[in-house]
Amino acid sequence: MIEDIEIREATLDDIPEITSIFRDTVRTVNSRDYNEKQIEVWASGADDIEKWEERIKKFYFLVAEVGTTIVGFSYLSKGYYLDGLFVHKDFQRRTIASKLLRIMESRVSINGFDTIKSDVSITALDFFDSHFYEVEKKQKKSHKGQVFENYIVYKDL
Ligand SMILES: CC(C)(COP(=O)(O)OP(=O)(O)OC[C@H]1O[C@@H](n2cnc3c(N)ncnc32)[C@H](O)[C@@H]1OP(=O)(O)O)[C@@H](O)C(=O)NCCC(=O)NCCS
Repeated sequence: MIEDIEIREATLDDIPEITSIFRDTVRTVNSRDYNEKQIEVWASGADDIEKWEERIKKFYFLVAEVGTTIVGFSYLSKGYYLDGLFVHKDFQRRTIASKLLRIMESRVSINGFDTIKSDVSITALDFFDSHFYEVEKKQKKSHKGQVFENYIVYKDL
């Protein structure tokens, strides 16, 4: 547990840190559940800077910081859809995702929705289960020639 986690909205200046967390976490954490080719395709999403700029501008995009280091981030689209949740590889299991998720859930309620939804990796399923999310379905998604198995989950707020 870390006591001094600060959460704030992301700015475009955070992109280098956000993308390196994304790349490293996919390579080191998600690699437990996906093969080498899938991981390289997934991690290469870090290089699409325009897409990250768009996410920060359009979505509700939060970063978690310890001191001046970004240790996790999450973004919400359409007002109710948790589109991403990633924690720094060296700060796993220290409640960072739980804190980000709690704020996202409050935001969804403030936005007037009763249910939060997400597409989650095999790796993250136990985390969402521990936060009382239900699995709507298991699915296969194609991305850049690779097929990824993941889960659509939801929680009534
Ligand atoms: C899933 C993820 C976001 C969880 O982040 P985290 O900050 O480590 O999660 P927390 O510390 O808040 O976890 C809270 C609880 O969730 C559960 N949990 C979290 N990760 C778990 C795991 N790998 N296995 C089992 N339970 C887990 C535990 O109950 C945990 O409490 P505990 O540590 O006291 O046992 C993080 O592992 C991650 O970045 N994964 C890779 C990226 C990813 O797949 N993101 C999902 C969107 S595609």
